[in-house]
Amino acid sequence: MKRDRISNVRLFRGDARFIVRDVLERGSLSGIYVNFPDPWPRKRHLEKRLLRAPFFELLSTRLADDGWLSFTTDHEEYFHFGLEEAESTGLYHIVRADPPAAALETKYAMKWREMEKPIFHATFHRLKAAGHSPPLIQRIEMHHAILDGDLSTVTGFEKVVRRFKGGTAIVLEGFRDLTNASLIFKVRVEETDLVQEILIQAYQKEDGVFVSLQPFGDPLSTRGVREAVHAVTDFLASTGLTVRQKWI
Ligand SMILES: C[S@@+](CC[C@H](N)C(=O)[O-])C[C@H]1O[C@@H](n2cnc3c(N)ncnc32)[C@H](O)[C@@H]1O
Repeated sequence: MKRDRISNVRLFRGDARFIVRDVLERGSLSGIYVNFPDPWPRKRHLEKRLLRAPFFELLSTRLADDGWLSFTTDHEEYFHFGLEEAESTGLYHIVRADPPAAALETKYAMKWREMEKPIFHATFHRLKAAGHSPPLIQRIEMHHAILDGDLSTVTGFEKVVRRFKGGTAIVLEGFRDLTNASLIFKVRVEETDLVQEILIQAYQKEDGVFVSLQPFGDPLSTRGVREAVHAVTDFLASTGLTVRQKWI
């Protein structure tokens, strides 16, 4: 992209449900290609499939009026499953046809073509948007806590798991920084379709120990991030520091 001076492309590696729900505006999307998505063939894994009714409903709110989804797969059972799931929402007009040429040039398309596997394709044209539009992830402003005590008295570390409505925050590791002035905690925050690994820092000031989110990795400031601050605060409190202030 850099070499060819292409500047109108954005790459995102992560869950498509997150980008569709939390990044794209209502009605902003012309179309979406889903090429050979993981079929999750086992019955107990079916809910991991991307092309299920909830995704079709969500997508209908993000697609433009004449927006579409192009689905190409080698997996006949998932193909029919996808058709039924979309059909059940009543939001799409489904057209079965030959796959677009480019969908036959992907890494997996080449593999299946070499094996002469049949390839299935349908395009789902949006008829209307679902009545309810799932909200964007809620961004939260306030993210710190203050404790009384001396951070240098904290010498050990234990993993902390904090569950909250909508997710879990797991304090995985604790480090002392090279200047000895602060502790840094690596926290994994799992929310509906967003997983972030973030750094929470606890640093000593004259008037207390401040616990806050570090900007490293450009984290999205969500409810789960606030819970991560609480999880670290709870850990510090368990070592003998006293919580003076925290925001719930
Ligand atoms: C069999 S590979 C196909 C890769 C590529 N599209 C191709 O045609 O060569 C399945 C891909 O689907 C992606 N995938 C499955 N579910 C997804 C989801 N919910 N969000 C984003 N990607 C997903 C996986 O990460 C994986 O890269």
